[in-house]
Amino acid sequence: MGAKTIAVLTSGGDAPGMNAAVRAVVRSAISFGMSVYGVMRGYNGLLNGDIKEMNMRSVSDIIQHGGTSLFTARSPEFNTNEGVQKAADFCRAKGIEGVVVIGGDGSFRGARDLCGAGIPCIGVPGTIDNDIACTDYTIGYDTALNTAMEMIDRIRDTTESHDRCSVVEVMGRRCGDIALHTGIAVGAMATLVPEVPYDFQRDIVDRMKAAQQTGKRHYIIVVAEGVGHTQELTERIQAATGIESRATVLGHVQRGGSPTLRDRVVASRMGYHAVELLYNGASNRVVALKGEQVVDFDITEALNMPRIFDENLYRVSARLSI
Ligand code: F6P
Repeated sequence: MGAKTIAVLTSGGDAPGMNAAVRAVVRSAISFGMSVYGVMRGYNGLLNGDIKEMNMRSVSDIIQHGGTSLFTARSPEFNTNEGVQKAADFCRAKGIEGVVVIGGDGSFRGARDLCGAGIPCIGVPGTIDNDIACTDYTIGYDTALNTAMEMIDRIRDTTESHDRCSVVEVMGRRCGDIALHTGIAVGAMATLVPEVPYDFQRDIVDRMKAAQQTGKRHYIIVVAEGVGHTQELTERIQAATGIESRATVLGHVQRGGSPTLRDRVVASRMGYHAVELLYNGASNRVVALKGEQVVDFDITEALNMPRIFDENLYRVSARLSI
């Protein structure tokens, strides 16, 4: 028999759509006849007893908001054996028989450890980075892409007016997905990602010069933060080409804002699936999207899966960008 009382928390970097996932967990749990607690500020809430019982109205009017109404944190204390035991003891004391953890792979390692301490956990992928190997999609990714695209469209206006080169750094930690997809969408002249090494002369300078010959006068280069050194790269480009260049680091603007329809719908489906798993007595699973299907994997296996970068799409993007 599955859990009768569960908890939900958001952990790690926030992502647009986390609220939709929290709402789905709370509403699904209540509809299955379960009690549900919201845990404040990630795993910290399990360590300091900061939880609140949720009802249908606790999650009203949050589906359209970015950020997370449960707040979030990275919890160094929870990353110790004592911390995990303390959190598990707190869950037992409160009768919490299952926890839905919405976050990235760091949060899933915490969920795996909490499972090891006897508390069933289900992970729901929530991060703008799309860097979780077992799933094609993470909650927040689509909103971040659309925000980055809109910001770079704006940057293009001024880049064009000045006949300049703009080098724009996007987020993604060690994953190049935000850069690749944004680069295609904004028509970047080059996109640099950590998964594919680049040659400064061949992939940037020669390309810019070839494009210049065809009459091009302004350039957008998208760089994933995992490549790094954006300011230095920008200065090198100016020195090597003579084209006035500017660097922009988009930063946390990519993490905020109202979630897109895709993020709201995927988050709702994943939140529901997580509760269904706990209701059916499952534990130590990660919810994932494969194609358009919501599926789930063992957390430990999911954490060991290698992430596959879409090199074919990267090649397509390189062909289009000139
Ligand atoms: O994981 C989401 C993310 O925004 C990454 O893209 C980025 O590297 C990191 O979090 C930034 O973390 P913080 O908000 O702690 O600066």
